[in-house]
Amino acid sequence: MNDRRAVVQPGSGTRPQEHVSVMAEEIISLLAPVPAGVAADGTLGRAGHTRLSLERLGQIRLMLGLDRDGEAIAACREILEPYAERCRLVHRGYEELADVLIELGIDGLVGVILDLGLSSAQLASERGFSFRPGQPLDMRFDGEGDDPTAAELIAHMPEAELAQRLWELAEVPAARRLAKRLKERSRAGRMETTDDLVAACTEVLGPRVRKMASATLPAQALRMMTNRELDRLTRFLDSIPSILAPGGRVVILSFHSGEDRLVKMAFRRYAATGAFHMPVRKALRPGPAEVDANRRARSAKCRVLERCLPEEVAA
Ligand SMILES: C[S@@+](CC[C@H](N)C(=O)[O-])C[C@H]1O[C@@H](n2cnc3c(N)ncnc32)[C@H](O)[C@@H]1O
Repeated sequence: MNDRRAVVQPGSGTRPQEHVSVMAEEIISLLAPVPAGVAADGTLGRAGHTRLSLERLGQIRLMLGLDRDGEAIAACREILEPYAERCRLVHRGYEELADVLIELGIDGLVGVILDLGLSSAQLASERGFSFRPGQPLDMRFDGEGDDPTAAELIAHMPEAELAQRLWELAEVPAARRLAKRLKERSRAGRMETTDDLVAACTEVLGPRVRKMASATLPAQALRMMTNRELDRLTRFLDSIPSILAPGGRVVILSFHSGEDRLVKMAFRRYAATGAFHMPVRKALRPGPAEVDANRRARSAKCRVLERCLPEEVAA
């Protein structure tokens, strides 16, 4: 259950605001055979994958760029200015793509990219995604929405459920004791900032767990709960038959074993119907050179699903 992108490791020497797109060449190669039409990047971030797709895939007439983070959308308006005629940015979740297509009068997509998790810009923000001191324990991708923050989630979630989810999402050791401490501190008004989270994790787990700062895994689990990341991914996966055009491909990059399992199971289920197939059966992984250059890439897994053409289904 490792997604070490969840937090900035103090002293790691990274420059987190510079988001380096993961497996970009592989994603472009996987999308190269798609027919002409409209595509979508469901996790726009800083538009790395979108920009490359627009540059290299001439058959993409229009690219929808979605992100739940309004700051990402605003930044990408500038980044994508040179491609403005072929782009449309939408401040919505990728799990809403089916509705977005209806609203925009688009029949189906020839390509969809999802690059799950959070961007380096979010890590560098003041929204509690990193351990930099004094940040509010917010962790919402959509910081402007009215969803509960991570601090509110800890305050309202029953202790047993919190313990179970810490374990399920990130295999947090001593999850029950940690959940108890988080709730105690929350009731005492001491679970409001990243410092409070680090202090609670250090009290229960000590300074390090599996060679990581002890708050790394709990922070990952809390971020995933706060943004309901697995629920949103499941909703998107269920929507694939209603959004993908014949010959179209969905490419998903995940960094967490729970996410990859959902993607793998859904793609296999679709392939078993005969209406879809998996052009590459196993997950693609980044090469050693990419992992050397970008440590965040090391847990990436990339999977692809294609919708068959009508003649292929009939055959
Ligand atoms: C890893 S970054 C994407 C980076 C991007 N591929 C690039 O190359 O610049 C993930 C982005 O997905 C966004 N995100 C996460 N969950 C989302 C959802 N359900 N719908 C839309 N965007 C989401 C985050 O806000 C973040 O900006």
